[in-house]
Parts: sequence; structure tokens; C-alpha cells
Amino acid sequence: MAAASSAGSYDFNALGTASGELDRLQLQARRSAELERSLLLQMGLQDGQDVLDLACGPGVISRLIAETHPASRVTAIDLNGDLLDAARQEAAAAGLERITFLQGDVYAPPLEPGRFDFIYARLLFQHLEDPLRALQAVRGLLKPGGKLCIMDIDDAWLSLVPEPEGFRSFTEAAARAQARQGGNRHIGRELGGLLEAAGFGDVAVHVETVSSRQLGMRAFLDITLGFKRLLLSGAELEAAAGTLAAADALVDDPQAWAFVGVFLASGCRV
Ligand SMILES: C[S@@+](CC[C@H](N)C(=O)[O-])C[C@H]1O[C@@H](n2cnc3c(N)ncnc32)[C@H](O)[C@@H]1O
Repeated sequence: MAAASSAGSYDFNALGTASGELDRLQLQARRSAELERSLLLQMGLQDGQDVLDLACGPGVISRLIAETHPASRVTAIDLNGDLLDAARQEAAAAGLERITFLQGDVYAPPLEPGRFDFIYARLLFQHLEDPLRALQAVRGLLKPGGKLCIMDIDDAWLSLVPEPEGFRSFTEAAARAQARQGGNRHIGRELGGLLEAAGFGDVAVHVETVSSRQLGMRAFLDITLGFKRLLLSGAELEAAAGTLAAADALVDDPQAWAFVGVFLASGCRV
């Protein structure tokens, strides 16, 4: 495999501003703010720690961490300069200038080794071509005993009830399209093994279910299907048109439910 140093299956600039992807990213993080707060607490994030938001995107989670942990030093890195500009602007508007935003690649992070108590990587690993190499690089950023927490997805844990005809073909086509760009929509099930292979200790994995009742069906569909739609084009997108219309119709069905399993994997630097 070629040396991985790119954004893998997440090239924000290639998606283009008309894609609405910045809005989707922000919606995705804002709608789940309450859940994020409780997950971070469960995973051991404490005030006063040195925290890194790895691949922070527009910085919604960096701000949430800084707001809820006023004594913590929060650093946030991302490969994409435009997303970092958006993150810096929003942080300044919220009076959170103490977050340090840096441009950098997860494979060679521009950060001092052994510096962090807690690193959070949300929705990054599904996009990486070489997740093991990324984990090895990130492990060195932790203090001994410091913890890496990864939040990511696995499409096998995504269900719409009732399920629109062709839904599995649609998710599989999106997974193939993401894999062609170096990503992996089934990364969730692999995270525990990858953390162990990268030399982390105390590895734990659990799956948290998020439903359409928590997010609202419209937001649930926008968050979980929006990026998949962007991955498809031409005949594959045309083939999915009926399925996507049936999924959208669930918004008007008060009896419909939808679920997604969010994987939380953690490991410590021993
Ligand atoms: C789906 S977004 C998630 C953003 C943010 N963590 C969130 O949850 O809102 C994936 C992010 O990973 C970043 N990214 C992808 N490859 C990267 C790499 N090699 N190094 C650093 N960031 C990377 C992208 O620029 C993008 O901001």
C-alpha cells in the first residue's frame, strides 16, 4: 500500500461548498452534544487534563470539551485548513480563544510527544487508509497512562424500521465507494484489534445505540445518510433514488424508528 498521508475518504475540499457538508458536520456534532458530553464523561475525561481533539473538523467537539472543562488545555488538529478556519472563527465567537487549533496530519502530528492525558478521535478512523500506522503515531502523543478514545461507526449497526426496499444495497454501494477512497465503513468492529496491535493497553470497546427518537427522524437521516449520498454518483446514485425517497418518507411516519450503533473504543498508553 502507498504511504498513507492524505485525508483518505474524507477530502472536504473535493466535496465542495455546495455539498452542504460543513452544515452536515456541524449538525451531526451539535445534535449529539448531550450524548457526547455523557460519553466523554463515561470515558474518563476530567477537568484539568491536557486534551487533544484529533481531526477536529469544524471544532464543535473541541468547543464542547473546552466549555465543559474550563481548567483543561484543549488542542485540536485537522488536516484541512478550511475546516480549521471555520473552527477558529466559531471558537473566537464563543469566547473560547484558549483552544489551540493546528493544521496537521494524524500520521505525523506536529505535537510534542508524551503530552496528552486524553485524546478523542471522533469519526476519523473510518476515513483512514492506514489506521494502524495512525494509531502508532497517536500513541506516542499520550503521557504514560493517558487514554485514546475513538468514536466511530459500523454500517452493519444502522437500521431503519420499516426498512426501505434496497436499503442494504444502498449502504453497501456507499461502503464500496468509501473503500475505493481508502476508507472503511465497517471500522467499528476492527477498532479493538487495531488498538491492541498498536500496543495500547486496557483496550475496551462498547456500542452505544442512538435512535431517531433522540435526534429526530429528519436529523437522523441527514446525519447517517448524507455522507453516503455524497459518495455515490451516476448510475449508483440513480439506483438509490427510490430507496432514498422511501427513507425520506419515514419523516412523516410517526411509527417509524431508526437506530445506529456508535462504537466507542479506548486504550491506554502503558
Ligand atoms: C467526518 S470529519 C469529523 C470531524 C470531527 N471530528 C467531528 O466529529 O465533527 C473527518 C475529519 O478528519 C479529518 N482528517 C482526515 N484525514 C486526516 C488526517 N490524515 N490527519 C488529520 N485529519 C484528517 C478531515 O479533514 C475531517 O475534518
